[in-house]
Order: sequence, then structure tokens, then C-alpha cells
Amino acid sequence: MADVDLWVVQLSALQPRSRALTAVLSPRERDRAAGLKSAARHTEFTLTRGFVRTVLCGYVGAPAAELELSDAGQGKPVQVPTPGTVAIAFNVSHSKGAVALAICRSRAVGVDIERIRPMPNALAMAAQYFAADEHRRLAEQLEPTDRDALFLRFWTRKEALMKAHGGGLTLGTGAICVDFGPAPVGGIVRLIEGRTFAVTDCDVVPDCHVCVAAEGPAVSVTLREASGLLDRL
Ligand SMILES: CC(C)(COP(=O)(O)OP(=O)(O)OC[C@H]1O[C@@H](n2cnc3c(N)ncnc32)[C@H](O)[C@@H]1OP(=O)(O)O)[C@@H](O)C(=O)NCCC(=O)NCCS
Repeated sequence: MADVDLWVVQLSALQPRSRALTAVLSPRERDRAAGLKSAARHTEFTLTRGFVRTVLCGYVGAPAAELELSDAGQGKPVQVPTPGTVAIAFNVSHSKGAVALAICRSRAVGVDIERIRPMPNALAMAAQYFAADEHRRLAEQLEPTDRDALFLRFWTRKEALMKAHGGGLTLGTGAICVDFGPAPVGGIVRLIEGRTFAVTDCDVVPDCHVCVAAEGPAVSVTLREASGLLDRL
């Protein structure tokens, strides 16, 4: 396995396998799904979690329905190794019908996917969540489409970093700069607490930004194809 395997799939491709995907959910996941008020979020959660289990079982060596997934605090789902299975780190993200799943054997990993779309509040959100240098770079973008794309670039990097770290918004994203300069594909971020993360842009689908963050030095990210796996369900 490469350092990080990245699986990107559309919910519309999971929908025809809905029965098989939801069949592998745990009782706790079914309860959580039942408590979701929005039908769209219910579909997103159940199909995504079924997909996560279906992919993970190929790495872990246990049937999808028997994988033990639990929250590691702050809501980050982790795989709990059981006797005879392999430990794996994973993280998942969804944005407007697109799903990204990153898997890594040896390092904490986070992923974020965002559909590129108009962001009318980009500068106000940047003032709240971004570093001053990032805000300035955005304000320099005169074309709204350039500003929106750069905003989502910074956003996916920060989210992937927060999700790899696992501490969510407690990380204080305004103190961390993810502007790696012109035509970047990523960079290394060192946190105040001393942990280092490799942040890698992975624009593997045309209308989305995808970013993977993994703890430690630079990683290689390999895109995996989901259609064969789904065809077998
Ligand atoms: C919850 C959070 C981890 C991501 O939320 P999000 O961007 O709305 O959603 P995504 O689709 O990218 O990720 C959600 C998935 O991340 C996972 N997740 C949840 N909490 C997590 C945590 N603390 N760390 C890592 N992953 C987490 C879950 O698998 C979740 O999907 P599921 O509920 O279907 O299982 C967190 O980053 C957050 O609250 N973000 C809010 C947005 C924000 O203010 N961002 C500031 C960026 S500068």
C-alpha cells in the first residue's frame, strides 16, 4: 500500500448499492442514522459509512459488518483493532454528493473534499478562521472565482489538517498558515505542540478540491478506483 490511499466516489454511484451498503452498519450506526432529522444527511451518513466499512474490510482483514469503529474523542471515527485484524487509520469527508476516504497504515490521517462553488462570505469567513496572511492573499484576488477557489483551497487544507490531528476546531486554525506559495501541491505544517503534518492537495475530480493531511513527513497519495468494488456488491 502507498503511504495514503485515497478513494473518491459520488453518492449517486453508491445509491444503487444502498441495500448492501446499509446492511453492514452496526446497531450504533443505525441508531445514529435514525436520529438524523434531514433525509439528505441520513442518506449521506448511511451510504458513506457503508462504503467506508466496505473499503476498510479489504485492508483490515475482517468482514465489513464486524469492523469495530468508534469515536476517538471530538467525534473522529477510528478503527479499533480486534485480534487477528490489522490496524488502519482512516478519515472521511463529504461535500454536496461527493465522498472522499483516506486510508493510511502507519500515520494519523485526515481528508477534506469541497465542491468548488461561489463563496459569497469568503472574506468574512477568512477573517474568522484564517491566518492574517491568508486573509490578505484572498483580499488580493480581484476575480470572485479566483478568490472562491483559493478560499476553498485553504479551507480544505485546514480541515484536512484539523481532521488528521483529531482535535477539530480546538486546533485554532487562525494560528496556522497553509499558504504554501504559487502553484502549490502542498507543504509541511509544524504545530506549536511539535507535531508535524504533510498537507497534500489531491485534485482528482474536476469540480472539487480534495486535500489529505498525514502526520509526519511528505507522503505519496494514490487514487483508488471504487467501481470494481461496488460492482461486486
Ligand atoms: C466536524 C469536522 C471534523 C468536519 O466537518 P465538515 O467539514 O462539516 O464535514 P466533513 O464531511 O469534511 O467531515 C465529516 C466527517 O469527519 C469525521 N469526523 C467527525 N469529527 C471528526 C474529528 N474531530 N476529526 C476528524 N474527523 C472527524 C466523521 O467521519 C464525519 O463524517 P460522518 O459523521 O458521516 O462519519 C470539523 O472540522 C468541523 O466542525 N468543521 C466545521 C467547519 C469549520 O468551521 N471549519 C473551519 C475551517 S478553517
